[in-house]
Amino acid sequence: MADSADQTAPFLAAAAGERAAHTPVWFMRQAGRSLPEYRAVRGDGSILQAIKQPDVAAEITLQPVRRYGVDAAVLFSDIVVPPHAVGFGIDVAPGTGPVADTPFRSANDLDRLRPLEPDDVAYVTDTVDILVRELSSDVPLLAFAGAPFTVASYLIEGRPSRDYRHTKALMHTDEALWHQLMERLADSAVTFIGAQLEHGARAFQLFDSWAGSLSALDYRRFVLPHSQRVFAELAARFPDVPGIHFGIGCDHLLVALYEAGPRIIGLDWRTTIGDARARLGDDVVVQGNLDPALVLAGRECALAGTRAVLADNAGHPGHIFNLGHGVNPDCDPDVLAAVVELVHAQTATT
Ligand code: CP3
Repeated sequence: MADSADQTAPFLAAAAGERAAHTPVWFMRQAGRSLPEYRAVRGDGSILQAIKQPDVAAEITLQPVRRYGVDAAVLFSDIVVPPHAVGFGIDVAPGTGPVADTPFRSANDLDRLRPLEPDDVAYVTDTVDILVRELSSDVPLLAFAGAPFTVASYLIEGRPSRDYRHTKALMHTDEALWHQLMERLADSAVTFIGAQLEHGARAFQLFDSWAGSLSALDYRRFVLPHSQRVFAELAARFPDVPGIHFGIGCDHLLVALYEAGPRIIGLDWRTTIGDARARLGDDVVVQGNLDPALVLAGRECALAGTRAVLADNAGHPGHIFNLGHGVNPDCDPDVLAAVVELVHAQTATT
């Protein structure tokens, strides 16, 4: 339940389009290999094993909050946790990403994708329970899941892909099976995010990282209805919880991603905030969008880029500062700390 302290959480104020004490900041992939303290506790082996240990996963989630003073904690988890948890046969190979030995190619493969039950991911909700106790009320915990298309692309390709040839072949050769798969993955995203919200996460992000590989026509025909259902079902169950929709290289899909029903649109660095507001309406709440490459280019470049993003936003209250994609493992944490400090200092209202 919201208490009065919630109203002052800068993330939640900005998410509601209201003026916050300062522009809130968090970074996609703020936990992870860029932090020495992460490498110290993470251990070897698959990240999915680390996610199964609630005390480890909670500690990793808290590390960037302590180090950077960011305005939100993002649960340490992964988009392939749900298919892994129902026994599809998918893992995350260090340095490569999600891999499935037997990719999804025919109707028989639906048998390996039974509906997700909250109990399948009890280790994730145990982690949420720890975090809700540990976090102060002005730093909300963010839930997330992969959007049906991006998760499908890993199940079907069996490994990270550049051209998504098997995924596109399936959608265009067996449209009925494609929609069945997407329905299951949409249900799974609702259950996964819903479980995290039931346990006290206060906002969520749906990652459709690779949707930008689709034409606008194919996105609307094969993907949008399913992502729309994810947002609609979550809005029905959690009417006060803001949702973010994010994809990379999605400028051509911007209107469609917003039509899916998020309260907040996540931008990569290619789209300006001004342009997004011109196309979606001045009230839209925007998250983004410093080019992560500028963080790698060093402190001066990162700070100049940060000022440019704030200028692009032009003082609009509905802005959540983030990178345009995840933190690169090679980035210098001190540069990110300086970005947070600059955003907070430049936008402080009290
Ligand atoms: O943002 C955070 O701090 C929370 C953690 C988080 C992870 N994965 C942990 C992780 C989040 C939000 C994700 C989401 C995710 N996972 C996405 C969507 C976001 C995006 O980057 O577009 C995608 C596409 C995945 C699938 C995935 N998992 C990839 C491509 C990789 C990287 C492979 C590699 O090693 O370079 C992973 C592994 C992974 N997930 C790591 C982390 C911290 C790094 C590997 C590790 O520590 O073992």
